[in-house]
Amino acid sequence: MSQATTMVEEVQLPKPEGLEGVVAASTLLSHVFGEEGKLVYRGYDIHELAGKASFEEVAFLLWIGHLPAKAELADFRAKLAANRELPGAVIDVLRLLPASTAPMDALRTGLSALGAIDPDRFDGTPDLDEAIAIAARFPGILAAYFRVRQGLEPIKPKASHNTAQSYLWQLFGEEPEERHWKPLETYLVLLADHGMNASTFTARVIASTQSDLCSALTGAVGALKGPLHGGAPSLVLDMLHEIGTAANVETWLNAALDRGDRLMGFGHRVYKAEDPRAEILREMARTASDPDFFALSLTTEERALALLNERKPGRRLYTNVEFYSAAVLAAVGLPGDMFTPTFAVARSVGWSAHVLEQTAHNRLIRPQSEFVGPTNKTFVPIDQR
Ligand code: ACO
Repeated sequence: MSQATTMVEEVQLPKPEGLEGVVAASTLLSHVFGEEGKLVYRGYDIHELAGKASFEEVAFLLWIGHLPAKAELADFRAKLAANRELPGAVIDVLRLLPASTAPMDALRTGLSALGAIDPDRFDGTPDLDEAIAIAARFPGILAAYFRVRQGLEPIKPKASHNTAQSYLWQLFGEEPEERHWKPLETYLVLLADHGMNASTFTARVIASTQSDLCSALTGAVGALKGPLHGGAPSLVLDMLHEIGTAANVETWLNAALDRGDRLMGFGHRVYKAEDPRAEILREMARTASDPDFFALSLTTEERALALLNERKPGRRLYTNVEFYSAAVLAAVGLPGDMFTPTFAVARSVGWSAHVLEQTAHNRLIRPQSEFVGPTNKTFVPIDQR
């Protein structure tokens, strides 16, 4: 092949930065309509589900394909409840972590341990029972670590609780109040799936190698952790605490943007309109969160959007899901370092649904890179370098 031909081929290779616009899989599960600011789960607009469907109904919808009938839901809830208790060996592993370990790192460790202690169950052929067995234990891993790091004993789940109730019960050991578990349940519904986001892509890549479901979800947790993906809500809380008062909003935001910092809770790769989840969470925060904190959030949002529009014209930066997640999760009683792990509790359903879909029509995901280095170097022995 002549050099001229090689050059032409290289020029023609697409290299979208950050894989923007690249279609990596076909899915029936969910889609983000970025221009319209619309999110759909298996045909249902998120507004159809939020505040109406339980998290269990949405999990059933994503995993099985339709909203459950009463008997199907009862059976499904019983299966989830039967899978919530953690194996003792996983709790033992969590006890070994220093109290300084971030809950997201503890989740990644606990999940990995779950797969390591039962490799025959979580093998390279993921199925719905495994998805239920793993997703049902996400809240338990987090709650057990939350308690052992404070020197408290983990609490056994109760079969009568739904997912949101069970999570709060295992965390705090008190019967959860409706004003706490209901907003948490709606939050879990809103965050259950979201197209080909970075952590879902990670899970699908791992599944495509015929690895196991625990590995796929452990990798997804690692991808979710970063602030450009799911790691932003506790940083939103830090930002609002640092701002402190409405009088300080403008100065704080301008200083952050002058430094070249990103404002947490704003911007999105796909949404070029308001994230519909942000709109729903804003209304939830309006009623659930502390009025002063909500007022500060609103003022900060309004000024941030105006400044981003002025400084980044044409970028179409809007509020994303993370901004009001902070207010809602704080109102539910969760500390800041449990925000991203709680996002993972919701997304465990979407990740595993994507793994099942990938497995059903698998082909190894193995993209190309554009090689931009030299090719003609000669090895020089170490004593001659
Ligand atoms: N604050 C300030 N500027 C921003 C922000 C922001 N939050 N978001 C994007 N921009 C600017 C960038 O600086 C860039 O400007 P430039 O072209 O003048 O250099 C332009 O907008 C485009 O930015 P990209 O990085 O190309 O956008 P991308 O699609 O890669 O990033 C992302 C999307 C990562 C979410 C980004 O908007 C961001 O960093 N936001 C803050 C972190 C955050 O809120 N993360 C949660 C995301 S939601 C989720 O994953 C659940």
